[in-house]
Amino acid sequence: MTESSEPAEERLGSGINGLDALLHGGFSKSRVILVLGEPGTGKTILCSKFLYYGATHQNQKCIFIGMNEPQTRFMKEMKALGMDFGKLQKEDKFRYIDATDIRRIPEQTKVGRIAVGGRELGLVNVLDTIQESLAKFEPQRIAIDSISDLVFRYPNVEERRPVILDLVETLQSSNATTLMTSELLATGDQRVLQPEEYLAEGVLLLRSLRNGVTTIQILKMRGQNVDRHPRPYEITDSGIEVMATEEVY
Ligand SMILES: Nc1ncnc2c1ncn2[C@@H]1O[C@H](COP(=O)(O)OP(=O)(O)OP(=O)(O)O)[C@@H](O)[C@H]1O
Ligand SMILES: [Mg+2]
Repeated sequence: MTESSEPAEERLGSGINGLDALLHGGFSKSRVILVLGEPGTGKTILCSKFLYYGATHQNQKCIFIGMNEPQTRFMKEMKALGMDFGKLQKEDKFRYIDATDIRRIPEQTKVGRIAVGGRELGLVNVLDTIQESLAKFEPQRIAIDSISDLVFRYPNVEERRPVILDLVETLQSSNATTLMTSELLATGDQRVLQPEEYLAEGVLLLRSLRNGVTTIQILKMRGQNVDRHPRPYEITDSGIEVMATEEVY
């Protein structure tokens, strides 16, 4: 029996042809995938593309949880790349959750007269907001961009693990497929794996090499046979183009 005649597991295409080729179709449904990358490598554009493609080609509802920028700036930047999220919002296929407030919660804050840890309050707020909107809107696709501000408030890895686990479990409790972005802290062979890499079910790595080439690599994708080679990609006016058969030197 050839692979194509077997019953296909439901896959969610990213709409980025080269990436879908590496994934042999797309992401498995209901997974939480980490998009780990260096600054400015296109993490936000990649997850926006994933949402936009689902909404426009598969009539799927999607949510963007923005930790880095307010809705207006996000909408404007994505419109310049051909993604009209304003239109999707009017059609009730898209919601933007502005979670930028979390960055402004100080380390120590007060609820009434009681001093509480600001970072815990921020986390609880974010998880509550996510849970509430998932229950109300029931999206099929979620992007959370980025988790760095949230989790780097916990410098100690033992403390950071349960925070990420809570977040991943909250996202898994819905039926949606999630892309969550995070900053790559170190590069090179000696780099220590970040806890979010263990806890996510899949990891995409975006790197900017010294020669100016940008590469995308699937580091892991539980339960899926994928192409694990680093492949070059470019950001263009229409989004991201991955050269799925090109080698990186
Ligand atoms: N029309 C375009 N053509 C080519 N490159 C573009 C275009 N629009 C944006 N870019 C590039 O895309 C990159 C920004 O993409 P994006 O914001 O998704 O990156 P990011 O990884 O989310 O960044 P950050 O770490 O700041 O969050 C920049 O390097 C920018 O130069
Ligand atoms: Mg970004």
